[in-house]
Amino acid sequence: MTENKYVIDEMISAKTIAARVEALAQEIRGRFNDTDKLIVVGLLRGSFVFIADLVRELDLPVEVDFIETSSYGDTMESSREVRILKDLRGEIEGRDVLVVEDIVDTGHTLNHVLQMLQSRHPRRLEVCALLDKPSRREVDIKATWTGFEIPDEFVVGYGIDYAQRNRNLPYIGKVRFPTA
Ligand code: IMP
Ligand code: MG
Repeated sequence: MTENKYVIDEMISAKTIAARVEALAQEIRGRFNDTDKLIVVGLLRGSFVFIADLVRELDLPVEVDFIETSSYGDTMESSREVRILKDLRGEIEGRDVLVVEDIVDTGHTLNHVLQMLQSRHPRRLEVCALLDKPSRREVDIKATWTGFEIPDEFVVGYGIDYAQRNRNLPYIGKVRFPTA
């Protein structure tokens, strides 16, 4: 599969992403403006570029932590069974928590992570997802804030990979396999 040649068509430009990240940060700041500390939790690895840009636009006292969940492997299909590969370093009980995710697809990953975090009794728990593919949803879940809703396409760039490649693209593009 990964041997097949594919091309990447730009879908969302770096400039459009930057403007949206700024707007999202404004909304998040409005929601948490009274916080003494916001714990921003990135889901590895896909959210690493997004979280880096987002926290730099967030004019709040923040702490950054990460969770890593089992991924798709090298396929384009969700495994649906979510495992925690790396847990938070810090406690979140009684704290304000913002989960930062790259894409909400079937919803299984976010659902699993939120249930786990909720069981630790944070004061507030919200989610900011860069992308949402609502047509793919299998679990009824939605991020508090979404950057862009996109159709059912496999995308890469801005932290998001296909078989670990293309995370360093500054824009978001869709993967296409040209028919010979
Ligand atoms: P879900 O559990 O099906 O919602 O999957 C969420 C995770 O699958 C995301 O955090 C991504 O890491 C990955 N994923 C979903 N769609 C894509 C895609 O189009 N490109 C790359 N990774 C994706
Ligand atoms: Mg992910």
